[in-house]
This record gives sequence, C-alpha cells and structure tokens, in this order.
Amino acid sequence: MPDQPKHLLLVEDESALRQAIAEQLSDRGYHVEQADSGETALARLAEFAFDVIITDLRLPGIDGSAVVDAAVDRYPDIVAIVVTGYGTVKDAVEAIKRGAWDFVSKPFQIDELTHVLDAALEQRRLKSENAYLRAQLDERYRFEGLIGKSRAMTRLFQLLETVASTSSTTLISGETGTGKELVARAIHHSGQRRSHRFVALNCSAIPETLLEAELFGHVRGAFTGAVGTRQGRLEQAHKGTLFLDEVGTMSTALQMKLLRVLQEREFERVGDSHTIKVDVRVIAATNGDLGRMVAAGEFREDLFYRLNVIPVQLPALRDRKEDIPLLVQHFLEKYTAPDSVLGPTLKSGAAGARPAVTVSQEAMRRLMSYHWPGNVRQLENAIERAVAFTAGRNQIDVEDLPIELRGPVASPIGSAVSLPETGVDLIALVASIESDLIQQSLERTNGNKGRAARLLNLKRTTLVEKLRRLQK
Ligand SMILES: Nc1ncnc2c1ncn2[C@@H]1O[C@H](COP(=O)(O)OP(=O)(O)OP(=O)(O)O)[C@@H](O)[C@H]1O
Ligand SMILES: [Mg+2]
Repeated sequence: MPDQPKHLLLVEDESALRQAIAEQLSDRGYHVEQADSGETALARLAEFAFDVIITDLRLPGIDGSAVVDAAVDRYPDIVAIVVTGYGTVKDAVEAIKRGAWDFVSKPFQIDELTHVLDAALEQRRLKSENAYLRAQLDERYRFEGLIGKSRAMTRLFQLLETVASTSSTTLISGETGTGKELVARAIHHSGQRRSHRFVALNCSAIPETLLEAELFGHVRGAFTGAVGTRQGRLEQAHKGTLFLDEVGTMSTALQMKLLRVLQEREFERVGDSHTIKVDVRVIAATNGDLGRMVAAGEFREDLFYRLNVIPVQLPALRDRKEDIPLLVQHFLEKYTAPDSVLGPTLKSGAAGARPAVTVSQEAMRRLMSYHWPGNVRQLENAIERAVAFTAGRNQIDVEDLPIELRGPVASPIGSAVSLPETGVDLIALVASIESDLIQQSLERTNGNKGRAARLLNLKRTTLVEKLRRLQK
C-alpha cells in the first residue's frame, strides 16, 4: 500500500474488467479514475498530473502505446504500466522501450498488478529522492570542497568567505576528520593568494630536530647532513599560505621562533645570520584544545593569541547529523564516478550506463544514529567501503556498512526483550530485572555502593533506598 494516496488513471475499454480492477485498487488505497478510451485518457492527462497510469495496449481508436507516449512525454516521472492481451508481449516490450515502467499480461491476478505497481513506485521514490539530494548538492551547500547544510556549516561558509578576503592568521580547531585541512585549503583557494602556493607542514609528523630546518630552511653545514643550502616551507609559501597542522605539538623553543615570524614577518635560515623577509599568511590547525594547553603551561600564551586572531571551530559530525545524507550522496558520487578507482566495476549494460547507487532507509538510519568518532573522514571511508561491497547491486544495505554500524540498535544489555504470546506481569518483571542488575553492580564493585550507583547511573542515596526496599 502506498503511504500517500496515489492518483491513478486506469484506461481499459472492457467496462466490467475496468470496474473490477478499479475497485480492488481503490480498496488498496489508490485514488482511481477510469477512462474507457484512449481519447478520454488523453483529455484527462492534459488536465491532471497522475502518479500512475495503467493502460490496456489494445484500445479502439487511439491505442495504449499512444497513451503511454503522451503520458511520459508530459510527465517524465509518471509510472506507466501497460496491460497486454494474449501474444502481444512484443508490443509490451516496445512500450517499455518508449518509457513504460513495466507490463502485466492478461489474464492477471490483482496481486500481480499491485506487486508490479508497488515495485515501480518504490523505484520511482528512490529515483526522485536521489534527484532531490543531487539538486541539494548545489552551490548553497558548498564552499570549495566543503559540503554541509546544517546551520553550523552554513554559518561556517559565511565566516570562511570573510576570512578568505583577509590575510589574518587563522586557527582552525576541531576533532580529527572534521575537515581542518580542507577548510585551510578552501580559505587559500578562495582568497587573493590563490595564485601562489599553499604549503602544508604537519608539525607532529617531523622529528623536533628536523622541524626547525624544515620550516626555516638551512645553509650548508648548519648541522650534520646539511650538505647544501635549502629553502624552508616559509620561503616556499611566500605570497601564499603556510598551513601549520597540529601546531600544538611544537616545542616551546620553536614556538618562540614562530612567534617572531608572526610578529616581524622575518626569520633566518638555520645556521645563517642573514635575515629573510616573507609575506605569508599562516593558517594553523589543532585537534586539541590550545586554550587549555595554554592554561596548563604547555603552549605559549602570546603565540596562542597571535595564532588565534580569527578562530574557526569545526563542529563534530555527531553534532550536525542533518549533514549526513548530503555527505553520503557526495561520497557516493565520488566513489561511483566513472573515473574513480571503483567506478568501472559498477558499470553495467552494453551502453556502460552506471546504475545510480542509493542507500536503503535502514542503512541511512544507521548512518545517522552512529556517533562518528572519526567524523567526516570515517564516514567517507564507510561509504567507500560500502560502494566496494555493493559491486553489482545498486543499493547499499546495512550489511555493507562497517561492523560498528551493523549491530542491533537495541538495549545495551543484550537482545531486545520480546513480548510472549501469553503476555507478562510487567511490574514483577521490571522489579526482577532491577534487582538482578543491582545485585550485579554490587558484586562487580565488591559492595562499594558509591561505585555501584555510578554503574547504574543512580545517586548513591537512590541506590541505598532501593536496597532497603529489596531487603524488606
Ligand atoms: N564538510 C566536508 N565536506 C566534504 N568532505 C569533507 C568535509 N569535511 C571533511 N571532509 C573530508 O574528510 C576527510 C578528512 O578531512 P581533513 O583531512 O580535512 O580532516 P582533518 O580535520 O584535517 O583531520 P585530522 O585532524 O585527522 O588531520 C577528507 O577526505 C575531506 O575531504
Ligand atoms: Mg588534518
């Protein structure tokens, strides 16, 4: 049964048969209109956008294929189903080529027809859902490579536009995988420095001793192994942007040198006394809380304020779940594109047309209820993996998702309880579960009521009270 009443036009010249089908379809929730000829059908189609048209192929006067043509022409999304008589399957195939969804041949059981109808409507629903999502992936929900339609993200896009038009030092913070590097690149590419270089340096990936030379460059003989003179990343980024990733891991000695660069826009190469001036925009990123590190004495306060001229805070994915369907669609397109690594395996049919891969409603519910500790990167990996697993099929289902998303969403104490045929004594059952869990919490904590209460998310006094009642 369709969820909203669907408007259906039934075209059949045999009135007894038409009447019978119409009644049965009405019983199943369709809103049925009848037409006894091709002419009447065309007239109704001109006036009303039906969801479905079911037409006999053989009609006196204007025949069924002309009706299908007219319907599909006018409403590309209409579900057209043709009914064929004996030995006219060839005509049905012809009608499908011209845009009908499916056919049933006479005589048929009503179940056969409704089955075909339900399947067609479900397919159409998925198709239009995809089209809808694709349409949403338009400019409003993009900033460079960033996708998002949540309030947090649209506000971020506005902020980034302003940030990009300045050269101010920017500090991006956010959990791992929230898109810090993507944001840094977006700022560079939409600003005036875009024709110069974006140079990235991950401060945690390089040993402390080499980091300084990497950043400032060095002259020949500056240290063991410094065979020639080398430009550092700062110089390479002249007139462009320097992205200092994981800036919180920098040693205090280097923090001081960086502070000087930010204040004076000058530095020396390691082992040299010659001062070099640079024009560089610095964007730093951290997945820790630099403010807290300052309070703990682990990061220089003056450097923090220099870096934090424009703070950009990226929200965790779990705090903007409404972005998940859009991101899923974006990654589906990325990983099923003909030139993606996985693309060719998804091609089907002689024409090489790629079936649109969709996500089942249940899989989407799982994707939306997960807490995503690895944020967008983890979601991207999950979709890439799912696309690989669906090879051949065109729908991602729960089984295609990573294990941590596949488990039952039921209670944390095991499988969901099911109600026996004979019913239960609810109060007695709940009391026995309660007593059982209290018992276990005390055993696990060697009778420590404070810790037992914490395991049960109860106040200690509540637990004591419950125990007193149980011991009565
Ligand atoms: N809003 C977004 N829209 C589209 N893709 C995104 C978005 N945010 C992140 N991504 C993608 O997620 C992946 C991780 O992003 P990125 O490397 O920028 O994260 P990060 O915050 O720098 O992570 P880490 O702290 O682990 O270095 C990339 O493939 C990126 O393209
Ligand atoms: Mg990063």
